Amino acid sequence: MKIKSICCIGAGYVGGPTMAVIAQKCPDIKVTIVDLNESRIAAWNDSNLENLPIYEPGLADVITDARGRNLFFSTDVDKAIDEAQMIFISVNTPTKNYGVGKGMAADLKYIELCARQIARVSKHDKIVVEKSTLPVRTAEAIKNILDNTGNGVQFQILSNPEFLAEGTAVQDLHNPDRVLIGGENEEAISALFDIYSNWVPKEKILTTNVWSSELSKLTANAFLAQRVSSINSISELCEKTGADVSEVAKAIGMDARIGSKFLKASVGFGGSCFQKDILNLVYIAKSYGLHEVADYWEQVIIMNDHQKNRFSQNIIKTLYNTVSGKKIALLGWAFKKDTNDTRESAAINIAQNLISEQANIAVYDPKVSEKQIKLDLLDLDEKQMDLINVSQDPYEACSNSHAIAILTEWDEFNTYDWKKIYNNMLKPAFVFDGRNLLDKKQMIEIGFTYIAVGSSNL
Ligand code: UDX
Ligand code: UDX
Repeated sequence: MKIKSICCIGAGYVGGPTMAVIAQKCPDIKVTIVDLNESRIAAWNDSNLENLPIYEPGLADVITDARGRNLFFSTDVDKAIDEAQMIFISVNTPTKNYGVGKGMAADLKYIELCARQIARVSKHDKIVVEKSTLPVRTAEAIKNILDNTGNGVQFQILSNPEFLAEGTAVQDLHNPDRVLIGGENEEAISALFDIYSNWVPKEKILTTNVWSSELSKLTANAFLAQRVSSINSISELCEKTGADVSEVAKAIGMDARIGSKFLKASVGFGGSCFQKDILNLVYIAKSYGLHEVADYWEQVIIMNDHQKNRFSQNIIKTLYNTVSGKKIALLGWAFKKDTNDTRESAAINIAQNLISEQANIAVYDPKVSEKQIKLDLLDLDEKQMDLINVSQDPYEACSNSHAIAILTEWDEFNTYDWKKIYNNMLKPAFVFDGRNLLDKKQMIEIGFTYIAVGSSNL
């Protein structure tokens, strides 16, 4: 079967870039991305590429290549489903915040809504592809809904998890380490295989059974997050002993069996996937009675929460046990550099902790809007909200502050005139570097009291 038309439901951080690259690389396939959110679709269609709903290096070029040619963004979900031979489901699957599995299980209500809509609208046979990260055996549920509520149309279900990381999404999509396709029906698998083989070397396209594919995605994220929690746990030990976590990471990373990536100590991992997927894994293990397995993975999250909390506690302790009325500048709000995404960002937790101690917070992030920062802090009351100021200028954010905390590893922070920043701060001038980003020696020479994660000032 040769695919000529694709529909993707969900124009988010996953659906948007993934489908844009498929359209760019397969000019003969019409790709329509649909979303319930009208303003999001309007932003994808905006002629000013600065207004795309997500910031991702290289994405504007991909959109320029394909939009209007064979890539379309629309809110007419029914029409796009009807026209497509292959439908990707790329809607969000947040952690459930109610009922059974609250705080752990994935909320699949949007997935189910999509399946029911596909079943209602479809008049011809279709391949349905799970792009969203889903708990193991979700494909079975989707198939059940499609087969029992459809109009006698045949559906094939494939699992095709996305491994792109935000900030490097376009690069990851152009040159993936691997593409994973889980399925049972050979014809459906080869239809999707043919799409990717337009630009991905065939030996990098892996086919497995559906359950292996679904579980591989959760496992990949769990392993990556585990590495971050592992190095973060060592960072605390380094601070107590005089070892330096960057040196330890370099030394262990040169062991080919360990590898050098994902060994950067930090303020704690964030992002929409790590916590959600591990909680999901923990929930699945528990539901099979595998308590040791569940406890093992849960510890990765416990460690991450500890890392975020101890960073803010250290600021409070160092500033003579009180930050009440003091100005603290937070540089960076996104969960990592090169994205405007703030989901589960450590900055949120750190700001909340400092505000609960009545600190005045000034935030600067090169890509995150003031509106988003305020949305992330909706849990605060009105009085606490007054303690937060968002600045468009890093020098203004840092001016007259008692301390600066680096929370995201934006490259531009390294280019600042730190002498000027120092001169405009209260003394002693503290910098808490949550990303080990700045040059320690230079910062100390300028006069800062410089405190970095995972290194002691012993
Ligand atoms: C999300 C999850 O984070 C990831 O784990 C999963 O693999 C894919 O979905 P992301 O693209 O980052 O990834 O989510 P988000 O940016 O929230 O985009 C989802 C989009 O789906 C939103 O724009 C939302 O409006 C849309 N949506 C949701 C629908 O169009 N219909 C629905 O029924 C539900
Ligand atoms: C992750 C996976 O990498 C990706 O394959 C999957 O599809 C979605 O989840 P993402 O969340 O976009 O991608 O970013 P990632 O680069 O994995 O970083 C996650 C968090 O870990 C960030 O907060 C980052 O700052 C942190 N991190 C990462 C560290 O603290 N140290 C590191 O060494 C690496």
